[in-house]
Amino acid sequence: NKKGFIFDLDGVIVDTAKYHFLAWRKLANGLGIDFTHEENEQLKGVSRVRSLEKILEWGGKTLSEEEFTRLMAKKNEEYLGYINKMDASEILPDVNRVLEFLSEKNQGVALGSASKNARPILEKVNLLDKFNAIVDGNDVSKAKPDPEVFLIGAKLLNMRPEDCVVFEDSVAGIQAANKADMISIGIGEKDVLHEADYVFKDFTEMSEEFIEAIVSDKVT
Ligand code: G6P
Ligand code: MG
Repeated sequence: NKKGFIFDLDGVIVDTAKYHFLAWRKLANGLGIDFTHEENEQLKGVSRVRSLEKILEWGGKTLSEEEFTRLMAKKNEEYLGYINKMDASEILPDVNRVLEFLSEKNQGVALGSASKNARPILEKVNLLDKFNAIVDGNDVSKAKPDPEVFLIGAKLLNMRPEDCVVFEDSVAGIQAANKADMISIGIGEKDVLHEADYVFKDFTEMSEEFIEAIVSDKVT
């Protein structure tokens, strides 16, 4: 039996939300806008463009198109400063165990991320060669909760959507997986990710028996 396992990146494989937070806060504060951890939570899984739009909405500001573009680039530059210091020690607990298990069992493994920085991040943490396919923010035209990113992932893995499983930490990502007709597995809090088929606090809580049951259709 073979399934396609599609991993989100930010919040599932690595905790980059803290770096997004620092970079967005600097930008927002520079515009005289407050930026809290609660607001950062709402940007999980949200594209870079949409994130800046939301921050401006919250702050009641509008920018010219040129200024908008300039600030997006500036935010990313700041963010890359943190990313460049990343290494394998930042891989979240038991991600390596699950990836190894899936490879032992000859399962399809793909990345399905909204981030345009996905490849450099995977390179930094030395995981690039663990994925049979990578779909990131450069490959999609419609952001999560649109299922496009995961549907492209399934196609690259040569799997039908209903034979794919998505690991996601964001509500938008779980909705995208559900729309794609895939099994959705939330990584995080049950009350936030209640639309997911299953929720685990993190990968340390996910047993190999559970993964095997998914692979052999013993749970659906
Ligand atoms: C992920 C993160 C978001 C981020 C988005 C785009 O979905 O959860 O917080 O805004 O990727 O990332 P990028 O690296 O392209 O700015
Ligand atoms: Mg995420």
